[in-house]
Amino acid sequence: MIRADDLEVAFGRQAGSETLALGSLHLAAGERACVVGGSGSGKTTLLHVLAGIVSPTQGRVRHGETDLFALKEAARDRFRAEKIGYVFQTAQLLQGLSAMENVALAASLAGLGRADARSKAEAILKRVELGHRLDARPGTLSVGEQQRVGIARALVTKPAVVLADEPTASLDERRSAEVLDLLDEVVAEAGATLLLVTHEPRVRDRFERVLDLDDGPLEVDS
Ligand SMILES: Nc1ncnc2c1ncn2[C@@H]1O[C@H](COP(=O)(O)OP(=O)(O)OP(=O)(O)O)[C@@H](O)[C@H]1O
Ligand SMILES: [Mg+2]
Repeated sequence: MIRADDLEVAFGRQAGSETLALGSLHLAAGERACVVGGSGSGKTTLLHVLAGIVSPTQGRVRHGETDLFALKEAARDRFRAEKIGYVFQTAQLLQGLSAMENVALAASLAGLGRADARSKAEAILKRVELGHRLDARPGTLSVGEQQRVGIARALVTKPAVVLADEPTASLDERRSAEVLDLLDEVVAEAGATLLLVTHEPRVRDRFERVLDLDDGPLEVDS
């Protein structure tokens, strides 16, 4: 369950610096919703705040009983590693590690032992059809393949919350549908909450609940 209330983010410290009012958003455990809005409307910033990557200048984020910004930074990082799967708008893989090591690292950070982390990483990479590229460095993978590694990394811990920032933007129609099916499957298996940003009408159509940042700050019952 996510309860975000009255969120505002200010960038820069100087007077008159831009403030982004994101509003309030409550998602039940197991709920799926998508976020739409024009470029610069705050979609990525909203996901960053919900993940505890960016601190809001006003408002509060609770994941279940946990008040995210009441945690010290190290505790917040640990909470994110254990409970939140984040798919970045660009995959953001570590170039010095193989595909498998990138995914296994996320599992290790969430507390899994080395052997367990590697076998879970291998299994999820097979599910995104990258079983033949386990040892590949990210730089040798196509953009779409890198994005699938990023998705595997987000899902390897079966997190309670999945935040996905345009996860299918670099995939063709077939792969996009497959990746979204996989996201839905893993999210359903774990009873996880899914919040996904998209520009694509065919992705948006898969969601009953659509939050539009172009309509102004989010309201709880929107
Ligand atoms: N670190 C930052 N410093 C200053 N301004 C920022 C920073 N991060 C975001 N912004 C501004 O906040 C606004 C929202 O940015 P955000 O990245 O959330 O948009 P978005 O909806 O994800 O856009 P896109 O569809 O292009 O990805 C933009 O005006 C952006 O310039
Ligand atoms: Mg964005």
